[in-house]
Amino acid sequence: MDKLRIVGGTTLSGRVSISGAKNASLPIMAASILSDNPLTLKNLPHVADILSMANLLATLGVKLTMEGCGEGENAQGKVITFDASSLNSVVAPYDLVRKMRASILVLGPLLARTGYAKVSLPGGCAIGARPVDLHLKAMEKLGAEIEIDKGYVSAKAPNGLVGADINFPIVTVGGTENALMAAVLAEGRTRLINAACEPEIEDLANCLNTMGAKIEGVGTSELIIDGVESLSSATHRIIPDRIETGTYLIAGAITRGSIILENTCLEHLSFFVDKLREIGVIIKEKEDKVYVSANKKELRCVDITTAPYPGFPTDLQAQTMSLLCTVTGKSSIRENIFENRFMHVPELIRMGAKISLDNHTASIEGGKLHGAEVMATDLRASVSLVLAALSADKEETLINRIYHLDRGYERIESKIRTLGAKIDRLKGS
Ligand code: EPZ
Repeated sequence: MDKLRIVGGTTLSGRVSISGAKNASLPIMAASILSDNPLTLKNLPHVADILSMANLLATLGVKLTMEGCGEGENAQGKVITFDASSLNSVVAPYDLVRKMRASILVLGPLLARTGYAKVSLPGGCAIGARPVDLHLKAMEKLGAEIEIDKGYVSAKAPNGLVGADINFPIVTVGGTENALMAAVLAEGRTRLINAACEPEIEDLANCLNTMGAKIEGVGTSELIIDGVESLSSATHRIIPDRIETGTYLIAGAITRGSIILENTCLEHLSFFVDKLREIGVIIKEKEDKVYVSANKKELRCVDITTAPYPGFPTDLQAQTMSLLCTVTGKSSIRENIFENRFMHVPELIRMGAKISLDNHTASIEGGKLHGAEVMATDLRASVSLVLAALSADKEETLINRIYHLDRGYERIESKIRTLGAKIDRLKGS
């Protein structure tokens, strides 16, 4: 297994280009199943999860054509055309789903397009049990019959899905995405109440409307979908990755550097940016560039609680914890979304962090971080270790199991090296 070796202490500077959003790309790729006309997606990130979803779609009979690595000389992001005119399977097998939980997002589209779906239950992961009960309840509300047998969800609606009111008891991003995609081809009107309104869902809804769907309330917690017979061909550009953007904002802050992020915006990060400014990080935006610096300023402690959008994103919790470990004084982070999203804490403690956990709250006594050998456990925890390593002055950190990183961060070592850091990948045995 590959490792990352980082020698910290460099003040980052220069420019970094932000890739397309992984968590918008995955549901939008699954949405290609809904249409018998081609869907062309631009600005897809070069990350492992995109390859996993592409592989799953191919096993269902979707034809994928790579149309080059980007637009013009600034090759940025994959351009792929998806043709689902001749599906030949409705089964999402365990060996693919276990590698990427977001595979469950083919459930709604398969059911809506063919009337059948057999999708392996994704199982839990490092950050929690992550059930899909709300996905299944939404499908039943739309008239599907659901059975669970030998670890697979078998869903059928041979006479098609019928629009209904679906009231989510808790905000679920994936549950909202599955229900939204299924409702697009259902007969009649569907209302999603207490729907998640993450920007990635807004991007999915905008793409579906470009394909000919009829969705109102886009970007709000109540979506109204009037079912259509079929969808037309479309081209859609994936939004910038707000979590990658937030990660590099912290990279600039934790090294007390000054960097420019390109091909991105702060539109979808206002709560997070407000918190970074409260800490004392300087952040400015001009056109599609974002400037961040924290050079030598005394940064301030803060208290943070994660929440569904537009609140503080749980996907930036681990990264922000690394930053607060370098800010003198007491800070706290309460994780309200997942039951076990503190797997990075023991690894940060190995690097000298002073963190105590009390159920869902981490109390941090900021100070100095040191180099150490550590282990990545999940996507965002692993990048928090990279950020922590960048701050350990002239000390070496070795990060194991970095396949977690490759799932969601495009070319991370080359992007960080371009900003001046001493980082390289040690090829594993
Ligand atoms: C999406 O996961 C993201 N993944 C996650 O990003 C992100 O952390 C999460 O939303 C929250 O923002 C993708 O978009 C591919 P949820 P998802 O359904 O859809 C509970 C990353 O790092 N729940 O909003 O799985 C669940 O257990 C990943 O990129 C149920 O109880 O998240 C959790 O506690 C990690 N029943 C809460 O809801 C259900 O049927 C929120 O989960 C569904 C969810």
